[in-house]
Formats: sequence, C-alpha cells, structure tokens
Amino acid sequence: MSISRRDFVQKLSAVTALSTLINPVIANNLMKAIDETSTMTDEEIAKNERFWKKIRATFRLSETMINLNNGGVSPQPIVVQEAVEKYNRLSNEIPSFYMWRTLDKGREPLRKRLAKLADCAPEEIAINRNTSEALETVIFGLDLKKGDEVILSKQDYPSMINAYKQRAMRDGIVLKWVSLKLPIESKEKIVEQYNALITSKTKLVHITHVINWTGQILPVKEIVEVANEKNIETIVDAAHSFAHFDFSFKELNCDYLGTSLHKWLCAPFGTGLLFVKKDKIKDVYPLLANGNPKSDDIRKFEALGTRSFAIEQGIGQAITFHEAIGIKKKQKRLHHLKNYWINKVKNIPNIEINTSQHKEYSCAIANFSIKGINSKSLSHILQKDYAIHTSFAKAENISGVRVTPHIYTTKSELNQLVDAITNIAAE
Ligand SMILES: Cc1ncc(COP(=O)(O)O)c(C=O)c1O
Repeated sequence: MSISRRDFVQKLSAVTALSTLINPVIANNLMKAIDETSTMTDEEIAKNERFWKKIRATFRLSETMINLNNGGVSPQPIVVQEAVEKYNRLSNEIPSFYMWRTLDKGREPLRKRLAKLADCAPEEIAINRNTSEALETVIFGLDLKKGDEVILSKQDYPSMINAYKQRAMRDGIVLKWVSLKLPIESKEKIVEQYNALITSKTKLVHITHVINWTGQILPVKEIVEVANEKNIETIVDAAHSFAHFDFSFKELNCDYLGTSLHKWLCAPFGTGLLFVKKDKIKDVYPLLANGNPKSDDIRKFEALGTRSFAIEQGIGQAITFHEAIGIKKKQKRLHHLKNYWINKVKNIPNIEINTSQHKEYSCAIANFSIKGINSKSLSHILQKDYAIHTSFAKAENISGVRVTPHIYTTKSELNQLVDAITNIAAE
C-alpha cells in the first residue's frame, strides 16, 4: 500500500471512530489534531509534542503529581468517565430494567468490537473484570491431574504464581520454573529456557507477554510454536500488551489469554477479557458455575452475577478513543517516550537500566536502579521530594524502579524525572 493510501485509510478509520465519541467538543478537538498531522508519518507524530498535548487535554489529570506508574492502571479519558457516569445514572433510575434489559444488550456489540481489535472471533472473547479473573478462570478450570507439569517463570505476576501454587497444593500438579535474567535481547535464548523444561508430562506453558517488573517483551509466538509442536497448551498473561502495542491474538496462536482493559486501553476500572480458542472452550470449567459447564459457548465465563453494567459499557468509548488515535501511533509514541528519558540518564555513573531499548523487547515500560540505593527507597524519594509517582519492582533477579509513561505524558514531565534521577545519583 502506498503511503498516501495508507494515511487515507488510517484517517478514515479515525474519523469514523470520532463520529461516535460521546463528547462533541473533544471529538472536534481530536479531529483537528489528527487533521494537522495528516501529512506526517507515524514516526514524526511520535515526536510531535503539539499533537500529544492535545491528546493530554482529553484527560483530567493531577496537577500536583507526575504519574509515571501507568503500568499499574491507566486513567480514563474524559469521554470514558462521561460514558460511565451516564450509564450509571440511567441504571439508577430502575436498576433491574436498565441494567438487565437495556445495558445488557450492549455486551454483544462490545464483544464484536473487542474481537476486531484483538484479531480473533467474537465467539472466543468473554468480557470480565480483569486479567486475574481471566487467567484464574483457566488455571482453575483446566482438567489438570496429579503429576501433570506446568511451566511458568519466577518473573510472572504473583497472583498467577499463587494460583498455580494453590493447584499444586490441592491437586498435586508439578510446577517447573524458568528464571529469566532480564533484559534479554535474544528470542532464541528465551525460547530455549522454556523448551528446556518440557517433558512428556508437560500439559501447559504459562507465558507473560510483558514482564510487569521491567517491561521485557517475551516472544510469545515463538514459545507457543515450540509448545504446539509437542501438543502442549499455552496460556498468555497479556495484562500489559493489549492496546499497548500492535499484535494479533490469531498470530500469537495461544490457547488462552487474559488481559485487563483498564490498563492500556484506558477503559473503566474493573474491565478485562478472557480469550479462549473456540475448540478449547468446552474443556475449561467456568470459575463461577452456570447451567452447562461443558458448553462450548464463551458466554459461560460471564456468569458473574450482579455487577456494574455501566462500567462494562464504558469500554465502548475507550475503544472509540483508542481507534481514533490508532495503535501504531500509540506504540511509536510510547516507545519514543521510554527511550527519551533512558537516553538522558543511561550514561550517568551508578545508573543501571534494567530494560532493553529495542522495540522488539520493550515499549513504554522500563526499569532502572541506582547502585547503593534500595529501589523501594528510591521510588519513595521520587514521590516525596520530586512529586513523581513510580512503582518499585522486587522479584527474583529483579530490583529497581519501574517508570511507565502514557500517551498523555509530556517530555517536560520526563525532563523532571531526568533531573530528579541526576540529583539523586549525585548525592
Ligand atoms: C503481568 C500482570 N499480570 C496480571 C496482572 C493483574 O491485573 P489485574 O489486577 O487487572 O487483574 C497484572 C497487574 O498489574 C500484571 O502486571
């Protein structure tokens, strides 16, 4: 496709998305920002502060603190907040009518839109509350028996590790541990670590797409290929990858995947999805039972009881907002911001960067440490003395402060981080 045709298609999908935004003033401002950059490449837009300041204006942010812990949970753009407020007000007029007979009907269109973003069939997507719920549904729902082996890593998310440990305790499954020394810039080396643990008893490989502590991206597709060759199932923790960078569920080809929509999609807090390959659905027991646990209908995983339908329906505006910007632009901007601050601090004595700068191995999230300073204290100093909110990471082979900008983060905020790191390292 020629550049101009590609640009035209991107712009058309942005315009289509914008026409369904709930707030016409915001839609209009976004349209102008997109128009102004219509002759630029995505690389040029990634560096264009003027464009991203207009994106920032669609959020309502703290004026007293710089938020560089967007990996934990993302703020919602104003349009998402407005949608939730609107649906919540409606629900409160007659809850049982508006939640169960009106807003409930919005789930099927939402399923289709999420499937389109993910590149899979709508019948493979269950909408739920978060990654923990999605992945634990599978971890506890699979028919694993005593002696069956599961491969996972010491750097996976603690809740998932705890779920497997609980199954090991109750059911006697055997856990085989990869221990990654990050960063790693070789797909082969990572794949080999997982491959080396496969035996005739291996039933499942658990892969974290983006290691939350450092932002390392793992080669999921390649690990899945190795597992598939030996008829072993794969489950992917995509908490940090979905809507952060461009990938397709179909291409990953894993059997199960869970993600949180309140992270990189900027959807309401408490929204997530579970993907299960169509032919695997019947073999996973739902965590919350329904009438037919062996059904091959993905909806069997949505028997959550009463919850906020307003929050669920707020996902629609988050998708619209995300589509208006476009995943490629978002990915390039996030990668650019990560490398922007790292390039300014990486040569300062005593600073260690614990994340790759290569786009195949990281995107927005990065981790750094200063020799001689405990990472919890470092994160605390950034908060107390510089009003910069980060998180600290402590796991096997990992210690450092995690820095996670978002699409609304400005370079001037990152300059303040750079100044703070420079001062602290010099003390
Ligand atoms: C890698 C990873 N998996 C799972 C989770 C859990 O996400 P949630 O709390 O939305 O269920 C997180 C949360 O940060 C995470 O980083």
